[in-house]
Amino acid sequence: MLIGIPKEIKAEENRVAMTPAGVSALLAHGHRVLVQRHAGEGSGLLDAQYRSAGAEIVAGARAVWERAEMIVKVKEPLRSEYRYLREGLIVFTYLHLAASRELTQTLRSKKVRAIGYETIQLDDGTLPLLAPMSEVAGRLSIQVGAWCLQKPNGGAGILLGGASGVRPAKVVILGAGIAGANAGQIAAGVGANVCVIDLNPVRLRYLHDILGGHITTVMSNRANIEEEVSDADLVVGSVLIAGAKAPHLVTRKTVKAMKPGAAIVDISIDQGGCIETSRPTTLDDPIYVAERVVHYCVTNMPAVVPRTSTFALTNATLSYAMDLADKGLPGALRRNIPLRRGVNVFDGNVVHAGVAEAFGFEYVPVENLA
Ligand SMILES: NC(=O)c1ccc[n+]([C@@H]2O[C@H](COP(=O)([O-])OP(=O)(O)OC[C@H]3O[C@@H](n4cnc5c(N)ncnc54)[C@H](O)[C@@H]3O)[C@@H](O)[C@H]2O)c1
Repeated sequence: MLIGIPKEIKAEENRVAMTPAGVSALLAHGHRVLVQRHAGEGSGLLDAQYRSAGAEIVAGARAVWERAEMIVKVKEPLRSEYRYLREGLIVFTYLHLAASRELTQTLRSKKVRAIGYETIQLDDGTLPLLAPMSEVAGRLSIQVGAWCLQKPNGGAGILLGGASGVRPAKVVILGAGIAGANAGQIAAGVGANVCVIDLNPVRLRYLHDILGGHITTVMSNRANIEEEVSDADLVVGSVLIAGAKAPHLVTRKTVKAMKPGAAIVDISIDQGGCIETSRPTTLDDPIYVAERVVHYCVTNMPAVVPRTSTFALTNATLSYAMDLADKGLPGALRRNIPLRRGVNVFDGNVVHAGVAEAFGFEYVPVENLA
């Protein structure tokens, strides 16, 4: 198959959908890969590296989109890319279609075969192509939280790990899922005093098993949250209720009770945030102070570390891209059930129930078509 990797054009997006190692792997299976010039630059991956891996470097986006049978991307196609969409083209990328009727309708009318990373789902309900970005955001939350606690950034001037003879900072993590567990590991690793709160006893038990002795696990309820958060130096918000807005677990009153110069990193801000005082911020202007507490609420945290994010994402996507290239879309869908769940639009039909419901389109199971 001829696979195209365009340069991402969304603002602040420096990731790329494939590394040179991914190109080599596809070539080893007999496929060909077109990479748009400078596509990997934002992640520190040079055209020369792609060329020596066997890719053909192509000057413009148009040539990549028009020649390729399958486009592998990071972000959803933007308006300026709609003109490249055509019947039968496979587009494999983050789509988040339930947020855009316009894109859904465009993919339908152009009869694109569109697969969304975010809807690929394993039998246990987990989302393997969302997980790497939660992992990155969770790990990053402690790094940026430490930065927020520094005096020049409005923080109280506290070092997470403390020093000999000086107490470490107290870090409270709300939600012990992928982001929260990764935040907990990093916070414990730098020597902070860590408390992780969740309402799922299985998650609490898991964290207790792997990090017991380095962290405290606490059941989520109003009283426990108020008690733990009010004397925290850093609070990380990482709860998720799938498909719903995040619940406000920390009220403004509790934030007021926190120490001046404490910090909040609300990772779940992309789902509305789990702290009443949170509002979305951008990479250009990531923090603000509310109730004397520094807030960091960036909605696209992995963009801060595009190189790590590119490798983490492509580690997870490559096996699916390979399956699609090796077997073709209908062939891959017959056996790969998680991938089948990822198809959103197919030959003019909406084949994802959630997307169809969001916009009132007819839902057609992909099994009826492929
Ligand atoms: N800001 C960013 O750039 C960025 C990047 C990646 C992920 N995220 C977001 O981070 C959030 C977490 O993602 P994840 O992959 O870790 O999710 P996850 O499903 O793995 O974990 C969520 C956890 O929240 C817990 N939870 C739900 N309700 C709770 C409550 N009332 N009290 C305590 N815990 C509760 C669940 O039991 C679960 O363990 C999501 O909103 C995701 O969209 C944001």
